[in-house]
Amino acid sequence: MKNKLISPSLLSADFANLQKDIEMLNASQADYLHIDVMDGVFVPNISFGMPVIEAIARHSKKPLDVHLMIVEPERYVESFVQLGADILTIHAEATHHLHRAVQQIKNAGAKAGVSINPATPVSVLEDIIADVDLVLVMSVNPGFGGQAFIENTYKKLRQLHQMIQQSGSSAIVEVDGGVNDKNAKALFTAGADMLVAGNFVFKHADPKKAIELLKK
Ligand code: DX5
Ligand code: ZN
Repeated sequence: MKNKLISPSLLSADFANLQKDIEMLNASQADYLHIDVMDGVFVPNISFGMPVIEAIARHSKKPLDVHLMIVEPERYVESFVQLGADILTIHAEATHHLHRAVQQIKNAGAKAGVSINPATPVSVLEDIIADVDLVLVMSVNPGFGGQAFIENTYKKLRQLHQMIQQSGSSAIVEVDGGVNDKNAKALFTAGADMLVAGNFVFKHADPKKAIELLKK
C-alpha cells in the first residue's frame, strides 16, 4: 500500500444538482473525482459525455479521474485530456492497440490508466505494466453503480502487487465497484492505493463522513 486515496464516483450523485455535490466533494477529504463515461456499447448503459464533464471541471477543485467505458477509446483521448482529465483510464478489453493508446494518453499530458473487467486476468497487463501510471481493477461488472463487490478481486490485487514489484513499475492500483466501509481496509491491505465509491458515499446520510470512513 503506497497511498490511501479516495475517488468518489459522481455516477451516484444528484444529476439535477451536480454543483451541490461537487461543492460537497471540494470540502471533503476526497483525493479525486471519479467520472464514469459509458457508451452503451462497451457497457449496457449510457452515462454522460463532454458537455457535462466540462461543467463538472469548471466547479471541481479536485483532480479528475476519468474512467472511460467506451469502445475504441483512442478516438477521444485528446478531447478528454483537454476537458481536464488528470488521470485517463481506458479498458484493456476496449481497444486492439492498448500500447499505442497508453502512449497517446501520456503524450496528451494525462496520467495513463488501464482497467480490467472482473473476468479479465491480471496477466494481460504483463507487457504494459511498466508503461502505465495506474491500473483500475473492476470489482463489479462495469455499467452500473450499486452492485455487489466480487470477492475474487482480492486474488487479483495480490497478483498485481507481485507483478508491479517484479517489473519495477510505479503504477498505483485503483479498485472500482461495491466499495464500502466494510471492505475498504482489506482492499488497502491487499494492495489497493485508491478506492472508488459511488453508492456508499452518495447514499450515505453524511457523504463527507462516508469518505472519512473509507480513508480510516
Ligand atoms: C461502474 C462504475 C463505478 C460505479 C461504482 O461501472 O465504473 O465507478 O460508479 O459504483 P458503486 O461504488 O456504487 O459500486
Ligand atoms: Zn468507474
